[in-house]
Amino acid sequence: MAKKTPDLDQAARRIAELREQIARHNDLYYRAAMPEISDTEYDLLVAELAELEKRYPGLASAESPTQTVGSDRLEGFPTVVHAVPMLSIGNTYSPAEVREFDVRIRKMLRLNADDPLEYVVELKIDGVAISIMYEDGAMVYGATRGDGVRGDEVTANLRTIKAIPQRLGNHTPAPAGRFEVRGEIFFPRRAFALYNEQRVREGLEPFANPRNATAGTLKLLDSALVAKRPLDAYFYAFGQVDADLPPTHWKALDYIEKLGLPVNPKRRQCKTIDELLKIIEESESIRPGLPYETDGLVIKVNDRSLYERLGSTAKSPRWLIAYKFSAEQAQTIVKSIDVQVGRTGSVTPVANFEPIFLAGTTVKRATLHNAGFIEQLDIRVGDKVIVQKAGEIIPQVVRVVKSLRIGREKPYVFPDTCPVCGGKLVKAEIKDSSGETKEGADYLCVNASCPAQLKGRIIHYASRRAMDIDGFGDKIVDYLVEKRYAENIADIYKLKHEDLVTVVEEMGIEARGKEKKSTKRPEKAASNLARAIDNSRHRSLTRFIYGLGIHLVGETGAKIIAQRYGTLDELIDKARHLGPKLRELQSKSYNTKAARDKALSDLLSPIDGVGKEMAISVVDFFNEQHNLTLVERLRDLGVNTRRLPEEFPQKRLSEGSPFLGKTCVLTGTLQSMTREQAQSRIEEMGGKCTGSVSKNTDYVIAGTEAGSKLDKATQLGVQVVNEGEFLKMLG
Ligand code: IVH
Repeated sequence: MAKKTPDLDQAARRIAELREQIARHNDLYYRAAMPEISDTEYDLLVAELAELEKRYPGLASAESPTQTVGSDRLEGFPTVVHAVPMLSIGNTYSPAEVREFDVRIRKMLRLNADDPLEYVVELKIDGVAISIMYEDGAMVYGATRGDGVRGDEVTANLRTIKAIPQRLGNHTPAPAGRFEVRGEIFFPRRAFALYNEQRVREGLEPFANPRNATAGTLKLLDSALVAKRPLDAYFYAFGQVDADLPPTHWKALDYIEKLGLPVNPKRRQCKTIDELLKIIEESESIRPGLPYETDGLVIKVNDRSLYERLGSTAKSPRWLIAYKFSAEQAQTIVKSIDVQVGRTGSVTPVANFEPIFLAGTTVKRATLHNAGFIEQLDIRVGDKVIVQKAGEIIPQVVRVVKSLRIGREKPYVFPDTCPVCGGKLVKAEIKDSSGETKEGADYLCVNASCPAQLKGRIIHYASRRAMDIDGFGDKIVDYLVEKRYAENIADIYKLKHEDLVTVVEEMGIEARGKEKKSTKRPEKAASNLARAIDNSRHRSLTRFIYGLGIHLVGETGAKIIAQRYGTLDELIDKARHLGPKLRELQSKSYNTKAARDKALSDLLSPIDGVGKEMAISVVDFFNEQHNLTLVERLRDLGVNTRRLPEEFPQKRLSEGSPFLGKTCVLTGTLQSMTREQAQSRIEEMGGKCTGSVSKNTDYVIAGTEAGSKLDKATQLGVQVVNEGEFLKMLG
């Protein structure tokens, strides 16, 4: 036997080390659902191992993690032996590697570069793979991938997921015999964010990402708990199938969709490699807007008859490849933490980082939400942290790399006074709908005249979606508040021309447009500002109500209120009438929470169409004297507080409109339009939208991620309309 060279010894040591590390990370990822490193870091370890094994074939092993798939098997679930193994997918990281894949396939199939070869491109959902077996159309069992050969049977948990049909055969008859479909279970982003916030509030450790939350959920032994989490699913592959499948993957996807299985609508078909590369190029830009996490694309040969010829390696079939999106996590250092005071007085800690480049932008700061979040993650100044873009837009801290601590990191002490006005900070109370209060995780500055709050309120009032005062940005507002030109929102209407000239000069603001350079510039910029302020006197009642910044009243809430009340006075009268009654009701004791909720709903029913919490907030707002004074002042300064004639135009009631006179509730995310667009369409067609489901609701229009409203509709027997049906009804 040849003597081992030092090189070989070194390689053997590194290989052993890598195998051990990868096995550990597999365990953390698959079993504990709490990974310590990012997917990219993991892929780099595997790539290094694969490279070494290639260079030293004598050190290769069938048990190496490069040849096997990680296992997510857990105790407590029965075993399912997969009829067809659940393999993994080879990865590529650049368009060039995808081109190599195409070359490889063509070589195996003896095709020339210009011979036709179609591909299907799908999004690679970052969730948890599952396999579901149907027999004569009925769901028999469902299992996780496990080690690819044996998985955990999680049927009861999967049955709670609304997207998974218990029975196949929606628009086409169910296939006879066994029909095994494979897909991905995922936690939609928005639902995940809400769920994690709830965990933090409850003192639990937040999940690092939606994938981990999904894995953690599927592994719960109590399926009633699973039912409470709004998991969703998309299907994209097949296991054991008795019937004949359509000849192409594209048609097979259409077929399973007709059977009632959810299939991602964002699939594409392409005829040439150039088309494929173009899709890849476009794909990263659609990623941020998707309501679920993706980590790449999956590219599949369309012609299913070629699959057998192409075959598989030990780990993955050769007829498909993944193209991984660029990393969206990175490591940086927390240089300092400071706090920001918002318009409601909420005090939010913000981390300042050593700037890092992440998914297309330089990230310098991220919100740390509240003191509870800092405590949960144990974030200290000087810590190395993993930062990611939530929804690829907003940076957030995922975790602290505690192994890299050097002992000089400083725990953060939350200030007890407001950094802006010096006022005492208090722990915010959270009120539930029955009016009961408990201590929340947020700190509040309760000084109503704190300049930071005033700035926030003016910025919100002037913002584009509220009173739309063009050019009235943060800097001007800072200046106006600091120099005491504005001590409340109404003061902006009292600004004189010379005040605005001073502001403009001090701030170095220039008139927009093609003005020639002249000494008149500040004058011009000041006139523009004055005009913008003046124009805002004539905005709609919806914008005005939204601009007041009433807690919980967003644009939709403001619209509902403006539609219900023709003038602000009407609303104020109603709110003032309800105020004392609400106080009384909240101080009474009730036998059950349900009784209290019922009394509240009855009391608040005049503020129709908005939820209980929002109605309480509106009543509270207009029972505060300083808010009433503000409204009075604004009205005296000529600001419109009445519904404008064009605000809710006469509906174009198309004859035979299915929405005529109907009350609808929108829930979940629609793929083809925003909720606001859907609402306008319904209203144009003579329908009305409300925020909560009751027995008076005619239709619940349910997009993806539909949650409790959908449950309520099912309970009350209200007709549920899915997106496809909704589009048909809209004609
Ligand atoms: S096809 C042979 N299509 O990605 C495997 N997988 O990294 C056939 N995944 O285990 C799977 N989206 O969990 C396929 N559109 C998609 C996918 C997808 C996500 C997951 C799947 C797989 C993993 C591999």
